[in-house]
Amino acid sequence: MSMKIRYRLLVLACLLLVLPLALAAAVDPGPAELSIDSNAKGKAVKIFKHHEHQKRMKCVDCHHATEKGKTPRSCVTCHTDVKNRSTKTGAPGFKKAYHGVCLKCHKTHKDKPALRKCKTCHGK
Ligand code: HEC
Ligand code: HEC
Ligand code: HEC
Ligand code: HEC
Repeated sequence: MSMKIRYRLLVLACLLLVLPLALAAAVDPGPAELSIDSNAKGKAVKIFKHHEHQKRMKCVDCHHATEKGKTPRSCVTCHTDVKNRSTKTGAPGFKKAYHGVCLKCHKTHKDKPALRKCKTCHGK
């Protein structure tokens, strides 16, 4: 094998090693801020700072049902009803799902009692 071909093979091997890493990093982080309003009525959360929260925890801490390396899906695709368990996906209602993630963590911050108040998330 000539030096030139060996060199080219080396470059190719490096590219093949880096490619999966580049693809893994391409998971869509979603919007910086979003409003959470699963059923367009009842109590919603007008401003949720999505990217601020991403700094504090891993994606799967909220997007639990996500395959490794895949872009997370909206919670309401599985948690379809407010209270009832979905017969299709087996997921409990979205109130339980959201309070189970959001409120559960907020309650652990004893130094910031405002975090557990309804109005912090749901407004006045
Ligand atoms: C840490 C944030 C947070 C706090 C604090 C919180 N909630 Fe929620 N709650 C949510 C989220 C997120 C949803 C899902 C809203 C949606 O998708 O429409 C929700 C949903 C609900 C729903 C059902 C939504 C509907 O459409 O009817 C009710 C009722 C509710 N919350 C009441 C309360 C009450 C009462 C309190 C205070 C005791 C409270 N929540 C505190 C985040 C919070
Ligand atoms: C504190 C909880 C939390 C964390 C952490 C979090 N997300 Fe989210 N994400 C949400 C909520 C809530 C929504 C809105 C879901 C809905 O509308 O049903 C959302 C929506 C999204 C969406 C849009 C989904 C759609 O189809 O509308 C993407 C993409 C996304 N997140 C990616 C990520 C990635 C990537 C990370 C990690 C870097 C991450 N999220 C971390 C809570 C979180
Ligand atoms: C692909 C479907 C799917 C998606 C998307 C999904 N979930 Fe779930 N979730 C489920 C299923 C099924 C269960 C019940 C079985 C289990 O515990 O794994 C569940 C259970 C939960 C529970 C435990 C509730 C309890 O019984 O106390 C919480 C909390 C939760 N989900 C929050 C969320 C949040 C928040 C999101 C969006 C950021 C989300 N889930 C997205 C399918 C999903
Ligand atoms: C693992 C812990 C954790 C989880 C899970 C979490 N939060 Fe928070 N959240 C925090 C902390 C800590 C702060 C306070 C940040 C500060 O004061 O700098 C906060 C702040 C907030 C605030 C007020 C200030 C702001 O930055 O907008 C809202 C509203 C909020 N969170 C909503 C939510 C919602 C809705 C969810 C679920 C989708 C959620 N949080 C999930 C830890 C969490």
